[in-house]
Amino acid sequence: RKSFKGRDFLSLRDFTGREINFILDEAARLKAMQKAGIPHPYLQGKTLAMIFQKSSTRTRVSFEVAMLHLGGHALFLSPRDIQMGRGESVPDTARVLSRYVDGIMIRTFSQSEVEELAEYATVPVINGLTDLTHPGQILADLLTVKEHKGQLAGLKLAYIGDGNNIAHSLLLGCPKVGMHISVASPEGYRPNPDIVTLAKQAAEETGVKVEVISNPVQAITDADVVVTDVWASMGQEQEQKEREQAFAGYQVNQALCAHAKPDYIFLHCLPAHRGEEVTADIIDGPHSAAWDEAENRLHIHKALLALLL
Ligand code: CP
Ligand code: NVA
Repeated sequence: RKSFKGRDFLSLRDFTGREINFILDEAARLKAMQKAGIPHPYLQGKTLAMIFQKSSTRTRVSFEVAMLHLGGHALFLSPRDIQMGRGESVPDTARVLSRYVDGIMIRTFSQSEVEELAEYATVPVINGLTDLTHPGQILADLLTVKEHKGQLAGLKLAYIGDGNNIAHSLLLGCPKVGMHISVASPEGYRPNPDIVTLAKQAAEETGVKVEVISNPVQAITDADVVVTDVWASMGQEQEQKEREQAFAGYQVNQALCAHAKPDYIFLHCLPAHRGEEVTADIIDGPHSAAWDEAENRLHIHKALLALLL
């Protein structure tokens, strides 16, 4: 517990499998307390600044509610509100916010901006999504898998679709907790090779398999967990048409899921585009754990805030 205090949460790359499991257990404990109506005001009087350069429903609401449940306060800062939106530098913003608040959450485009913010901030910085990674999301995914399957080690996760921030954070997280991961993406939309290398290094230590291929049937075969995400992420809206073509064979539907284990669960970070990356009968069907997954963002954020701040 002590080793978390004051740290940044920028990427799962910086956390060991043991630490990831510790955060999951802490989230489960806080979830149980909330369900039992037991107050848990561990951050009384503390404040979190939340910088959003991109839209958000889940991240924004769950962080704000998490701070409230912990007895603290959150400030929502959009680019229209703060001077950073008019060009005030990231280091100056970091220095100034650190004089007011106890932690900074940021959702933005480049990972390097989050790293720069963390470099100049004297309070913990939490990554709430970049083009490269979405680490908090993957902790919520892992908590959901653990709840539904009772364990993580030895399970196989299949990610079908764009080699984006979600794919990257799954690649960084799954091998560390002993999960096999198979990613199927079309040529040109594969995950970042540096991240695949890191995933394979972690996989060697835990003895699991990391696979990045083109064939979605091969990837999903015998999967315990099936994950997909939008074909065009935030900032790629103008590529929607060409991406629809590139990903045409990568829809998660009944025919594809017939190759997964009979008791597979389906995850999607949301927002979803029914009829594109996933069909309605899958995301709204009996295998979907997407709504538990969305809820678990709240419990994960509480655990992160309580541990880091
Ligand atoms: N999954 C996720 O991060 O959702 P929002 O974009 O709504 O925050
Ligand atoms: N890959 C998506 C995730 C949204 C939560 C995006 O970056 O837009």
